[in-house]
Amino acid sequence: MDTKKLKALQWKVFENVAAAQLVPLMRIGDELKLFSRLAEAGPCDNAVFAEAAGIHPRYSLEWLCAMCAAGYASYDSDAGHFFLSPEQVAVFADEDSTSLMIGAYDSLASLVMDEPKVRAAFKTGEGVPWSDHHPCFFRGTARFFKPVYKSNLLSRWLPKIPALTEKLEAGGSFADVGCGHGVSTMLIAQHFPTARVVGYDFHGPSIEEARRLAADAGLAARVTYETRSAKDYDGRFDVISFFDCLHDMGDPVGAAMHAFRQLNDDGLLVIIEPFAGDRLEDNFNVVGQMFYSASTMGCVPASLAQEVGLALGAQAGPSKLSIVLRQAGFSDVQTVATTATNIVLCARK
Ligand SMILES: C[S@@+](CC[C@H](N)C(=O)[O-])C[C@H]1O[C@@H](n2cnc3c(N)ncnc32)[C@H](O)[C@@H]1O
Repeated sequence: MDTKKLKALQWKVFENVAAAQLVPLMRIGDELKLFSRLAEAGPCDNAVFAEAAGIHPRYSLEWLCAMCAAGYASYDSDAGHFFLSPEQVAVFADEDSTSLMIGAYDSLASLVMDEPKVRAAFKTGEGVPWSDHHPCFFRGTARFFKPVYKSNLLSRWLPKIPALTEKLEAGGSFADVGCGHGVSTMLIAQHFPTARVVGYDFHGPSIEEARRLAADAGLAARVTYETRSAKDYDGRFDVISFFDCLHDMGDPVGAAMHAFRQLNDDGLLVIIEPFAGDRLEDNFNVVGQMFYSASTMGCVPASLAQEVGLALGAQAGPSKLSIVLRQAGFSDVQTVATTATNIVLCARK
């Protein structure tokens, strides 16, 4: 045994365990609005923070110290004050920030709670339906992806497909398949006010939440949502999207084939997927650790629970995704953008 390698492995586990131990603390912080209370209070000692947050001071001190140790909150040792830096506010406290990341902890908490179901499926090979997850899974997905869409979708990704902008600016039609809580659908509806925008998802509670969010945003008249599977919606569209959902579907080829049929002849299919390389070993890094783990607990079980059960996994990579789209009939498949966490493909008939 190589002692250096052993120590390095143990340190890596140590770091991962320390990170995992934050999961319940982040949930408590989020649910009790501790980050926003600290942001509003400004630099203050523990007693003032506990009072402002309405929590017991012994708990607040331990929570604040854990956050400071993680670098998620800050401490001024001269004044004995705790505070959030502007970056910490953006990542943990400001729900509308394009840097917010706290939603990830909603999903992580649900995956811990859902572990017995997935463990049982490991033995049987059966799936775990998307709808069987704890409700905070759906909220976490929407909250974690929202900043990504807000910072990239309209300013960086869709402009790489000029024909899409032309069509939607000219009042074209857009279907957001697998829309979840409809964050991307609303952004499209806001940006292209004359476009006809529809969101489809087979998960009824997500569609209800999407409708509620659209109504709250004053968009109820501009975007419609329907509970439909990716293979059973009607209508003709200029643009059909699958944003971070094609790999969750049991039959991605069938879903893409249905999109092929519903698209106008010069229509565009836009796919956003988690970033991945084509070879397994390309993904053995921190992004792969996060995505393969989420995929084991959420994406693969969701796909195996549906007909066909192809189970592409979140780390399918561009080659496998292109094969799926070509099998569905698309002849022109191009990667139009990549970031550290996402890949964007555009396909034409
Ligand atoms: C990871 S979530 C992404 C949601 C949304 N597009 C987003 O980016 O926030 C995957 C979504 O795909 C939906 N989904 C999975 N299989 C589906 C199917 N066969 N038909 C329609 N929706 C499906 C799920 O209900 C879920 O909302």
